[in-house]
Amino acid sequence: MKLKKIADNVYMIACLDWDRRLFDSLIPLPDGTSYNSYIIKGSEKTVMVDSVDPEFSDLLLHHLQDIKKIDFIIANHAEQDHSGTIPKVLEKYPDSKVITTAIGRSLLMAHLHIPEDRFQTVKDGESISLGDKTLEFMHMPWVHWPETMVTYLREDRMLFSCDFFGSHIATTDTFVTDEGRVYEAAKRYYAEIMMPFRKMIQKHLARLAEYDIGLIAPSHGPAYNKPEFILEAYKEWVSDQPKNVVVVPYISMHGSTKRLVNRLVQGLANEGITVYQFDLAVTDIGKLAIALVDAATIVVGVPTVRSSPHPNVMYALNVANVVVPKARYAAVLNSYGWSNESTLAAVTNAIPNLKVEVVGAVGCKGLPTAETYKEVDQLVRTISEKHKEDNLI
Ligand SMILES: Cc1cc2nc3c(=O)[nH]c(=O)nc-3n(C[C@H](O)[C@H](O)[C@H](O)COP(=O)(O)O)c2cc1C
Ligand SMILES: [Fe+2]
Ligand SMILES: [Fe+2]
Repeated sequence: MKLKKIADNVYMIACLDWDRRLFDSLIPLPDGTSYNSYIIKGSEKTVMVDSVDPEFSDLLLHHLQDIKKIDFIIANHAEQDHSGTIPKVLEKYPDSKVITTAIGRSLLMAHLHIPEDRFQTVKDGESISLGDKTLEFMHMPWVHWPETMVTYLREDRMLFSCDFFGSHIATTDTFVTDEGRVYEAAKRYYAEIMMPFRKMIQKHLARLAEYDIGLIAPSHGPAYNKPEFILEAYKEWVSDQPKNVVVVPYISMHGSTKRLVNRLVQGLANEGITVYQFDLAVTDIGKLAIALVDAATIVVGVPTVRSSPHPNVMYALNVANVVVPKARYAAVLNSYGWSNESTLAAVTNAIPNLKVEVVGAVGCKGLPTAETYKEVDQLVRTISEKHKEDNLI
């Protein structure tokens, strides 16, 4: 495959990981993913922006075979899916230097054992000239690690954003063609990697709004030649305002909790609320994370197992606690055999990072009774009122 030209003397090298099915040993990848590296040939200097996952070292080196000289390798991010092939590139180009932030240098030395004398660190806002092209570096911590930065190519109005704005999708398209598919793949990426740092990203977006950006070139997924598509999506995802959405992750071994869930979901739908229901025994945990991006309320359906919430529910709650959605309200539906004393507290204790008000807990011994259903109907009304008070409905 030849280098993909995205502007004069700017090329994308996309390594397509069609068959990868799990990221960070956590999030499923139904559409695979990709690792993009970029080559910018200035009149005086040539740079590579980010490398690729070490699995694709040979492919990257194959693409570099006609490139005689690389002066700088820009490491926007030290995680191995982008930095992992840097040592091989440094070996191929013995005079090249890695440009990164000071924290980036320490992480790259720790993770890849790159010698200290191969680095040139850059401060926030610093620029370097490639002759007829200029690169400006903006430190943007926590998109995705503390060292992350983005690189702006001034003359071509191009932003190299690494994980920021990335999408988990393997595609031969250089630029986004199917916005629907990329929207979901980018939201999956955002939900796992970026959502915990939502407040920080609000600031980064405000800073980028000052720049004239004609093209966003991320290091996962296709490039955005209509950047407003992804900038608008991010603005919505990071906003403090949730949507009129309830997410219901649940488990049910013998169908009792499921009956509570069914009653609740039907009731909420009748109130005009959008509900996403996930059976945690079979669900793609990434789909749950995506739904949590917008949710105002989370209702957990859980049976008691050995005096605790079912372990699959605890796992999902741990994930929710790590990705820190902006939900405002939470509730619990529970079925138990003889005692549920510890179950309800264990659910709320598992999500200390979420700033949620607990608006209800409905428990039943075995199957729900007419009385239990009344309590579920009351919970529906409470959630609906909360959404109305917050002007979400
Ligand atoms: C492996 C297992 C362990 C259980 N442990 C408890 C328990 O510690 N305390 C309790 O009250 N019920 C316990 N139960 C009973 C269930 O909580 C009860 O059957 C409940 O109605 C199941 O809800 P479900 O039909 O939604 O799965 C246990 C059931 C199973 C299968
Ligand atoms: Fe990353
Ligand atoms: Fe990444």
